[in-house]
Amino acid sequence: MLIPNHVAIIMDGNGRWAQKMGKPRSYGHYFGTDNVRNIAIEANRLGVKVLTLYAFSTENWKRPQEEVNYLMSLPALFIDKFLKELMEKDIRISTIGDLSTLPASTVKVLQKAIDETKDNKSMTLIFAINYGGRDDIVQAVNKVIKSGEVREISEKDINVNISTAQYPDVDFMIRTSLDYRLSNFLLWQLSYAELYFTDCYWPEFDAERFDLAIEEYGRRQRRFGGLK
Ligand code: IPE
Ligand code: IPE
Ligand code: MG
Repeated sequence: MLIPNHVAIIMDGNGRWAQKMGKPRSYGHYFGTDNVRNIAIEANRLGVKVLTLYAFSTENWKRPQEEVNYLMSLPALFIDKFLKELMEKDIRISTIGDLSTLPASTVKVLQKAIDETKDNKSMTLIFAINYGGRDDIVQAVNKVIKSGEVREISEKDINVNISTAQYPDVDFMIRTSLDYRLSNFLLWQLSYAELYFTDCYWPEFDAERFDLAIEEYGRRQRRFGGLK
């Protein structure tokens, strides 16, 4: 099976799944968080090197405060429950997005996980938190400006200053719950990614469904603008 190096997932549909179960939205977020563990373990088992998960967008602040608060408590829940297992599987945790405006307790727990897993080598699990693709590009441009060199900006300047500079471009992007949009996820990094949309809600997107998606990736023909 052809395994993409870098998989990115828009974990969407927690709310709709909860609604389907007759439960509050937080129920969906809770089980969605458990599912992060399942998919991370499976991606690592298959040999994926980088898994980037969209956990909270720069637009998600528009949600009711109560929901935002609950979402901000999930990193702690995830890390308390699964850090040990991620260590055993040699998975490194990282983040992209602006952590400076998150609650201090959320940042603290993320930082702990980043520190503890920093030498792990098998796969990097990147949480995109308070992340926006446009913001990412703007930050990259600002870094170039701050370097003080007055000149035209090249693609390479963006590539080396974008949040995922140390990782390969995204090969495969999955969005659950059948909305056909990027919602401001990795705009720069997705330019040649293969896209995959499934009607499955995130909490029920299990390892088997992930495998089916990866199989589909293997059937895609990537041409990058060239010929076969
Ligand atoms: C994804 O599920 C989780 C986040 C955006 C944080 P949603 O909360 O967007 O669920 P739906 O799309 O309303 O079903
Ligand atoms: C995208 O989902 C963000 C995350 C999954 C974190 P949303 O549910 O926020 O996106 P829209 O509102 O459908 O575009
Ligand atoms: Mg959604």
